[in-house]
Amino acid sequence: MNIKKLQEAASNFGTPVYVYDLSIIESQYNKLQNAFKNIDNYKIHFASKSLSNISILKFIKNLGLGLDTVSIEEIKIGIKCGFSIDEILYTPNGVSFSEILEAKSLGVKINLDSFESVQDFSKRYSNHPVSIRINPGIYAGGNENISVGHSNSKFGIPEEFITDLIKMEEKKQIKITGLHIHTGSDITKNNQFDEGIKKIFSIATKFKNIESIDLGGGIKIPYFLGDTKTNLKDYARVVELEYQKYKNITGKDLKLILEPGKYLVSDSGYFITKVNYIKKSKNNFFAQVNSGFNHFIRPTLYKSYHEVINLSNLNDKKEEYTVVGYICEKDTFAKKRMISKISKDDILCFKNAGAYGFNMSSNYNSRLRPAELCIHDGKIKKIREEENLEDLLNNQIDVFD
Ligand SMILES: Cc1ncc(COP(=O)(O)O)c(C=O)c1O
Repeated sequence: MNIKKLQEAASNFGTPVYVYDLSIIESQYNKLQNAFKNIDNYKIHFASKSLSNISILKFIKNLGLGLDTVSIEEIKIGIKCGFSIDEILYTPNGVSFSEILEAKSLGVKINLDSFESVQDFSKRYSNHPVSIRINPGIYAGGNENISVGHSNSKFGIPEEFITDLIKMEEKKQIKITGLHIHTGSDITKNNQFDEGIKKIFSIATKFKNIESIDLGGGIKIPYFLGDTKTNLKDYARVVELEYQKYKNITGKDLKLILEPGKYLVSDSGYFITKVNYIKKSKNNFFAQVNSGFNHFIRPTLYKSYHEVINLSNLNDKKEEYTVVGYICEKDTFAKKRMISKISKDDILCFKNAGAYGFNMSSNYNSRLRPAELCIHDGKIKKIREEENLEDLLNNQIDVFD
């Protein structure tokens, strides 16, 4: 954590502001590559839903990653950032068939997410190569909202359709060339990953045209000292074993795909705010910051833990604070946390704000979205202007004018 640069970012650009340290994205990518170095044919696609600023995407592209997208807009942004068509994956959920057709016309690789959309696809594009997302029936992930691979989840094609899919393939109605799973985010239990990996490789042996297996994202990084994390080495080892086993059974080489979001960018991002007031109440010292869940919703939505650093007073006596926002609803960022003594106007930094931070922000309470900055080669650069009132009013229509 480059404290000096973060202090400089706050004093030169103001708060609230998101700051991304690009060197951390690069080192996370290197660690991931190192973990999978024994697999001959793999590609890492960054889950752009987690952080889609165009400067970040271009940086990531230049590192050699592909892109994982979930909407036609993310595909178009990816193309604009210079990703070639074959570097872009599209894994939508519940989108209209016309959006799927548009993605197909652009030529990106599609992971179809329902048996119903496979049927529509096969009517339109009989025997065309397509990839499918399987629901493996596994409960995995840090909380209910981000556990998406279980049998009650809306994601993926339930396994009971596999026989029908094989029949469709035999009748040359479809050609399934790829399988995809993503069971959830923040997965700490390696055995949940293992179960999914084994399942998808085993399903792959049932289809005769499989060329790629996509294992989605979900790798958990620690949010504080001593926090749980995915054991990356063990994860990669199970992938290697299954990859090799598949090769021995079928004699075929597969392309392995990974779609990490958080693993690559969570740690690189800091959300920096300023303390408006220290408000005393019977049971709390509230540090009220100039932001709220409109800018950073993860703590409210998922109860995610983000370390809070007092950039104005790093090493003073620690006191207990509840850090809250200015939204007219409960928007607690951190509850009863021991933080180096906070005073009015101090600058507080939330760690691990790179993934699903700015990208989940909104204009709730008619607040403006903050600027985004990056630290690259020792320099701080602005990569998004903060919004102004005009931005809020721009697309509204005053019928009483
Ligand atoms: C299909 C898919 N792939 C990849 C990801 C990235 O997950 P994570 O940020 O946990 O790595 C997600 C996250 O929701 C996803 O839905």
